[in-house]
Amino acid sequence: MSSLLALDVNALLGRFDPEAGTLAGAKRVERRLSDLKGVFLDEVAYETACTEGDPLVYSVEAIEPGTADGDLHYGVGLIQPGRIGREYFMTKGHLHEWREAAELYIGLRGKGVMLLEDEATGESRMLPLEPGMAVYVPGHTGHRTANVGDEPLSYIGVFPARAGHDYGAYAVRNFRYAILDEDGAPRMIRREP
Ligand SMILES: [Fe+2]
Repeated sequence: MSSLLALDVNALLGRFDPEAGTLAGAKRVERRLSDLKGVFLDEVAYETACTEGDPLVYSVEAIEPGTADGDLHYGVGLIQPGRIGREYFMTKGHLHEWREAAELYIGLRGKGVMLLEDEATGESRMLPLEPGMAVYVPGHTGHRTANVGDEPLSYIGVFPARAGHDYGAYAVRNFRYAILDEDGAPRMIRREP
């Protein structure tokens, strides 16, 4: 059980920078292009891009105040602008280990979309994630975020402490849809089975 006095100020008062995509006192995870093998649709474009460098694609800085069932974790994500072929820079995407866990995303900066995929039915939707918008990700739903603009995309994600991250399913088969730039706008394109 969390005690108010036992928590440090970073757990009680989040100070985030929407421009820099940082959260004071948070644990930071970085994903570079080389960390995203198998994620992008165009494997040739991916391999070519890897020969040209290993840029930072996204970072997440997360605060984990406690681990009790009722606790919340939250983090700030920052996705750089970029493309692999016609596909936008994006997160690996995941399900929650505790499948019932929902998550709320709040756009802070830039122009993004989220891809939501129902685990059981495969039903997929693409929703905008921009400043002034919140996206509710229900339980049992795979989710991935893409930067479809020309500047960094930042957002906050809030989720139950129990949620956990399950990357396994998408490491094997990826999401059913890719989000590609089609005449300057993001479109959901069905991958080959
Ligand atoms: Fe999540």
